[in-house]
Amino acid sequence: MFWLKTRIIEGEGSLKALSKEVRGYERVLILSSRSMKRHGFLSEAEDYVREAGAEVFSIAGLPAEPSVETIEELLPKLREEFQPDLLVALGGGSVIDTAKALKVFYDAPELNFEEIAFIDRFSKPKPVPKLKTKLIAIPSTSGAGSEVSAASVLKKGGIKYNIVTPDIAPDVAILDPRLPRTMPAEVARNSGLDVLVHGIEAYTTKVANPFSDAMAIRAIKTVYKWLPLSVKGDEDARARVHYAATMAGIAFLNARLGLAHAMSHKAAWIGPHGLLNAILIPYVMEFNAERSDYARKRYAEIARELGFQTAKDLIEVVRELNEMLGVPSLSELVDEETFMEKLDEIAEKAYRDGLVAFNPVEPKPEEIRELYLKAFYGE
Ligand SMILES: [Fe+2]
Repeated sequence: MFWLKTRIIEGEGSLKALSKEVRGYERVLILSSRSMKRHGFLSEAEDYVREAGAEVFSIAGLPAEPSVETIEELLPKLREEFQPDLLVALGGGSVIDTAKALKVFYDAPELNFEEIAFIDRFSKPKPVPKLKTKLIAIPSTSGAGSEVSAASVLKKGGIKYNIVTPDIAPDVAILDPRLPRTMPAEVARNSGLDVLVHGIEAYTTKVANPFSDAMAIRAIKTVYKWLPLSVKGDEDARARVHYAATMAGIAFLNARLGLAHAMSHKAAWIGPHGLLNAILIPYVMEFNAERSDYARKRYAEIARELGFQTAKDLIEVVRELNEMLGVPSLSELVDEETFMEKLDEIAEKAYRDGLVAFNPVEPKPEEIRELYLKAFYGE
């Protein structure tokens, strides 16, 4: 099965489509990153909303990592002060994830966070009821895929929880390449590598299908060809990678993700999400390819799409891209003592992560531990 709830509007200057999208709504709340405010896109968006005759409220400068605490702080303002009938998220994946979570508790105040969150793959969260407030996502980075996905990742007390329900997938995504052109080179690199890993993992899960494959392959090819230029700031490359990020999001919305994401989520304290995935993926691919004919065959298919032959070639290609873009090893991001102290805990948590169920090979906790170690020492 393949599905996509989100209507996608793309193109240079497409932010102005907001004006048409908010018509008929009365109270619009824009959640914005600090960077989108600084670059003038928040005020541009506010103007489009006013043009359409709606009242506009804005919250700019949310914390980099969305947390339950942030949601709890914002909710009373939404309920008592803003009372929006439309939510707009303008920013990176974190801003969009925050808007999704706000929508859940704004629309269904009776819900309790712990009841609906996916803590791990052995827990059974309560289903989220039907939600009503419309959500428009306008991503400013090119990576997370949150503008089309049905998940919101939230932190509580240092642990990352996932809320997953089709109802939080945004109703509309506006992809205006002017926005991601404001990304610093490092953010462009890290988020772009996340897109590559989304493509590779979505293409090789147990539930991949020909339609998710099409999106995954196109995203992988685009990132492989254009990411180095995009990192350098090339305008056309930035646009291409921006669209590829959403394609990869559509792929993993359907095909889900695998072990690299399970491991990076649990090691989130070490560094940026996309960077961790880029570091981990060659080791995960080696692990999968050694144990599964299916994984080997699928990696070889990706390799051929890029002009190479085998699974081994693909792993080499990914390593070379990492090297070209200056991706460090884990040991450059965290000191040995801290890492070793936490290793058993994160290996166990990654083993229990929901995404492991979709990986082509089911790993044992000690095998995950081994993979973390390899990534740490850069073997
Ligand atoms: Fe990711």
